[in-house]
Amino acid sequence: MALSKPRVLVTRYVPYIFEQLERAHVDVDVFERDDVAIPREELLRRVQACDGILCMLTDQIDHEVLASAGSKLKVVSTMSVGYNHISVDECRAKGIAIGFTPGVLDTSTAETAIALTFMAKRHAMASVNSAKNGEWGVWQPFQYCGSDVEGSTVGIVGLGRIGAKYAQIMKTAFNCRILYTGPKEKPEVAEPLRAQFCSLNELLGESDIVSVHCPLTTSTRHLFNADTFPLMKSSAVFINTSRGPVVNQDALYDALVAKQLAAAGLDVTDPEPLPVDNKLFTLPNCTIFPHIGSATIKTRQAMADIAIQNVLAGIYNKPLPHAV
Ligand code: DGY
Repeated sequence: MALSKPRVLVTRYVPYIFEQLERAHVDVDVFERDDVAIPREELLRRVQACDGILCMLTDQIDHEVLASAGSKLKVVSTMSVGYNHISVDECRAKGIAIGFTPGVLDTSTAETAIALTFMAKRHAMASVNSAKNGEWGVWQPFQYCGSDVEGSTVGIVGLGRIGAKYAQIMKTAFNCRILYTGPKEKPEVAEPLRAQFCSLNELLGESDIVSVHCPLTTSTRHLFNADTFPLMKSSAVFINTSRGPVVNQDALYDALVAKQLAAAGLDVTDPEPLPVDNKLFTLPNCTIFPHIGSATIKTRQAMADIAIQNVLAGIYNKPLPHAV
């Protein structure tokens, strides 16, 4: 009697992922769109009796989804390094492995943070808009002036892989002084950067650039709020490439309007996409990227490869190459 193939739900249409799984003799059910997140009811229906799920950061893999999947489910593999959309505790309790994609997106995400840093420090968005709007008159000695990145004090919130990559570039290319904060000291990462560990409040008070790289957890949700923004220097810029809900956006808006800080650069927002009528879009000193941190072909290809390897390992009861 022929054994039935393991069944994997892929929540977004990515031809490469589909082909690789088919080639691995997996029964693949793929949501047919690449430009739409799988609707909740489709996810709940299609996940039934799956051995594995290959999902995106846009899919909430919570109690309801795990319950719909039933007892066959062995692995949830997300094509992202962040896994705040997955109920980790419940997966653990049920013996479901979780795969993620660490390591391959450090450079692209750090480079995105650097792009935002320059956008913020050099008033790039306001300057581009001004030129487009016909306000670019005769060269003026002090028009469009921002501040230098070189020699800045940089405060890293979360010295993980991506935070460390950003810090390393800022240190070596721009001779920045590095401070960092987080749940614990990381001497092995900090030492080569000569990075100094300090409290969040100290970091906010001393940094010219604050760059957020921590994961979204219950303790980092709204870590940046109406109490913390006023602790920043009024000349400082705030960069976030981690997750939107780490920031209370109303507080950020108020702080930018009140000039409690000079500018912000966000690659992540709450919600995503950020509605076009959101008040943050009205601010000349707030640059918003549409979550492009890891958006290079090389990085996304590497993320897809890891997500495939993780799901295949999980459905065949092998250790995942990159398990949470
Ligand atoms: C991730 O992988 O978590 C990133 O946010 C995607 O850019």
